[in-house]
Amino acid sequence: MTKTLLVLGSANADLVVEVGRRPAGGETVLGGDTVVLPGGKGANTAVAAARVGASVALVGAVGNDGYGSLLRESLESSGVDSSLVRTSERPTGIAYITVTPDGENSIVVSPGANADVSPSDVDALSFDGVSVLTCSLEVPLETVIHAIDVAADAGVRTVLNLSPVAELPAETFKQLDTLIVNEHEAAQLVSDWRHLLRLGPKTAIVTLGSRGVAVVLPAGVEEVPSIEVDEVVDTTGAGDAFAGAFSARLAEGDRVVVAAEYAVKVAALSVTKAGAQPSYPTAAEVSSLAAG
Ligand code: RIB
Repeated sequence: MTKTLLVLGSANADLVVEVGRRPAGGETVLGGDTVVLPGGKGANTAVAAARVGASVALVGAVGNDGYGSLLRESLESSGVDSSLVRTSERPTGIAYITVTPDGENSIVVSPGANADVSPSDVDALSFDGVSVLTCSLEVPLETVIHAIDVAADAGVRTVLNLSPVAELPAETFKQLDTLIVNEHEAAQLVSDWRHLLRLGPKTAIVTLGSRGVAVVLPAGVEEVPSIEVDEVVDTTGAGDAFAGAFSARLAEGDRVVVAAEYAVKVAALSVTKAGAQPSYPTAAEVSSLAAG
């Protein structure tokens, strides 16, 4: 069945441990019990989009192991089409995540099967009926570059969450409808993020954490403030929640700023619960926020 949103990216098992503080080099600290949760920037983005009602499929790969089953179950129970998630001979990707009491996280990713997502997976796709392709970068860069190229040629809108940041060809930047980066990633690309469009994308969004996002348009910058939340529990996957909800609304025909206004609410709600995918709100939860 045709989906209007395709997400290309990673699927990881997140091994999460709460720590009082991060260890310095050569140091050992004790943490809480390890919790295993479905994650990965691609899977997170797809789940966030599906929870708010998008018709979405994930293009990616997992291993033939228990973590792969965990990820498939999370995708399917959230309404994401996982038929384009290949089973690789490599193990499912794992993210080792520490979360400190302020809700901040640090992550080490072992890509595993994600490293197997290849340009030939893109060549096997049909873009008929697809209105938006959204990519992130825990899968091989050459695959993402190829996907953006093929999608742009097919008239599909392209969104890239450039996380983790990587060097992109100038041509790829020019093929982007929307580039999404956080402040740190933006600083690695340009000295002033208000100049991101000089790289070539039609629009850019800089995520600013609890301050919301800045939407960079040819006509100037529009700031979209976040909403206040009572308690920040865990910021893991908040950027993916934004990218997923933004892409979902874009695929429904919203303008970039309107889609960003919706997505900041989704990202803000996501930090009030532990984990990435388990923390993503439904469309009804986002609406009740607006009503409250
Ligand atoms: O963006 C958060 C995600 O980054 C986690 O779910 C982890 O899997 C890493 O990919």
